Amino acid sequence: MPKEILITREIPQIATDMLEARGFKVTVCPSKSGDKPLSKQELISYLKEKPYDAVISLLTDSIDKEVLDSAPSVKIFANYATGFNNIDLVETKNRGIIATNTPGVSALAVAEHTVALILALTTRIVEADLFTKEGKYKGWSPMNFIGTDLSGKTLGLIGVGSIGTEVVRILAKGFNCRIIYYDVVASDKIESEYGAIKTSTIESLLQQADIVSLHVPLLDSTRHIINSESLKSMKKTAFLINTSRGPVVDEKALVEALENKTIAGAGLDVFEFEPDLSPGLSTLSNVILTPHIASARESARNEMATIAAQNIIDVLEGREAKNRVNK
Ligand code: GLV
Repeated sequence: MPKEILITREIPQIATDMLEARGFKVTVCPSKSGDKPLSKQELISYLKEKPYDAVISLLTDSIDKEVLDSAPSVKIFANYATGFNNIDLVETKNRGIIATNTPGVSALAVAEHTVALILALTTRIVEADLFTKEGKYKGWSPMNFIGTDLSGKTLGLIGVGSIGTEVVRILAKGFNCRIIYYDVVASDKIESEYGAIKTSTIESLLQQADIVSLHVPLLDSTRHIINSESLKSMKKTAFLINTSRGPVVDEKALVEALENKTIAGAGLDVFEFEPDLSPGLSTLSNVILTPHIASARESARNEMATIAAQNIIDVLEGREAKNRVNK
């Protein structure tokens, strides 16, 4: 009997090709309601259709006790994402199920998206685009859309894993930014290569930074790391960027801070109650929103698919998974 693999939504074809080349049988969940994440009940009913050996799950699939109960034959959930906060790590481990992620390969894409959000805010390019398209441009003006220089500004990063490190490289080298960071572990690389300075507290970083960019995983310790108190510690002229996970920011507090001009603006690719937006967020002119697309590049997505498939192949052929996250 061939091994049965479920992929919970369409991802790059390379994953299916790699799995089929090993003789595995692949089922990709068809999208019933357009390009939408599966509901928990849909996921459970797909999992119950066959005794699957492995699953490629997405960050929108909550792999919790109830889902695991419906998938007793699954040996590995290979998450097609860097983040893995959607998987119950303790429960999978207790049941002897392996969980893996796809680290590193989307770092450049996410870093470039982070820089794009920063530049969009400092140059006011989104507002200006709308203004021009709406026919409001009636001639050059000395005072229209005055932006902010990025060069020479202080960039404060919370979290300097592979994504944060790429952001530092681009902004230190390309825009001459001064780099400060906060992380539980010091980064010799960014200190020696880009002169980055580690602050002793998050508060000290927030007080000094012109741009605060978040690059932490979602953990109990990072949930609402940015809240109404921390927003008050930031400069009034500062921008907040979040391309990590939505619940790292208390979104209600952020909306208030943007309305009251406690900070100058924000660029968000992720949302606390994704895909819903907190009331008031979408009508603010000092926020730029993108729909969780920071890693949406062909190269990054192909590599993510390759890693997820390889982790499954390794486990089902009796080898260790390279990217296990629930050891
Ligand atoms: C995207 O958010 C990812 O975790 O890969």
